[in-house]
Amino acid sequence: MSSPIRRIAICTGGGDAPGLNAVIRSVVIAAENRGWECYGIHDGFNGILFRERYPEGGVFRLTRATVRGIGPLGGTILGSTNKGDPLHFPVQMPDGTMRDTDRSDEILEYFAMKELDALVSIGGDGSLTIANALHKKGLRVVGVPKTIDNDLDKTFTTFGFDSAVSFATECLDRLHSTAESHHRVMVVEVMGRYAGWIALHSGIAGGSHAILIPEIPFDLDKVVAKIRSRDTQGRMYSIVLVAEGAEPIHGHREVLAPAEIGHAERLGGIGERIAKVLGEQTGKDVRVVVLGHLLRGGSPTAFDRLAAMRFGTAAVRALEEGQSGVMVALAFPNVNYVALEEVAGRMKGVPLDCDTLQTGRDVGICFGD
Ligand code: F6P
Repeated sequence: MSSPIRRIAICTGGGDAPGLNAVIRSVVIAAENRGWECYGIHDGFNGILFRERYPEGGVFRLTRATVRGIGPLGGTILGSTNKGDPLHFPVQMPDGTMRDTDRSDEILEYFAMKELDALVSIGGDGSLTIANALHKKGLRVVGVPKTIDNDLDKTFTTFGFDSAVSFATECLDRLHSTAESHHRVMVVEVMGRYAGWIALHSGIAGGSHAILIPEIPFDLDKVVAKIRSRDTQGRMYSIVLVAEGAEPIHGHREVLAPAEIGHAERLGGIGERIAKVLGEQTGKDVRVVVLGHLLRGGSPTAFDRLAAMRFGTAAVRALEEGQSGVMVALAFPNVNYVALEEVAGRMKGVPLDCDTLQTGRDVGICFGD
């Protein structure tokens, strides 16, 4: 039987996503309603690893008053980072080289020193992998699945995804009229890392004519044929939506910056690359729009706010029940708990037999295959 909870900490790691503040608010209120104190860790785990840099020394008190009104706000009041993995921390050696160092014991020592009983870790694959490692070392941890990319396994969806898809869809709606007026091809690049969820969902909802996702290596000749066929039908414009991680059958994905210790590679640039070829092959005017970080900003949709609140309160219930090493997950119609071990290090791509993909094919969208 685990000891009762009195004080918990919350951290947000990785790229931000709409709904983070709604999770924080719901955790704080549900925890206070149980008589627990809440503390926020600055910038992922950097608040602890670099505590001398922060005025309050790493964590700061969160109360009902601190979180009042933050539910609709984008970003995270805790701050976040995707450069502070305590399991793979870059440390400079005397000879100037960087060494991959495990600093996770410092997190446990800090929790013991501050008498923090448990952690609610809100993040994507990287953060949940860290959460799992901390759980295995004895920390009481519950994870909450966040990412606009929707690439986490064992949950129907992550919060942040719906907001990103809604925004991308609105952008596509706006691009139709300008593309049509100028008889142009608009190439739109969206985030998603190695998964095509954002591109697939927004592309279908926003009426794209071609959608290129990492799960389906593409042949640009197929896209050229699609554009030409539309032209012959008098539809003189086309919208081509490409996920940042998409790659040609005989080629490679576009990497803006390679991976470093404690930091994954940065993707981007595939839109420009295919636009050049599409322009040459079709003879049409082509423009590129990269939605990039715009997809991560703004207020969460109602779906994401509700998911965030359901996740946050479920995380508190899990801790109250004595659970640890689990992630709250959406398993329609309810929220359930899955072992972090089953989530850590796994990626959920778009299944090639899913009905959403088939929907796109049935309405004539070209997937480059
Ligand atoms: O994981 C979320 C995400 O937005 C990815 O879609 C994207 O590849 C990455 O983060 C970008 O990260 P950064 O903010 O480091 O550019």
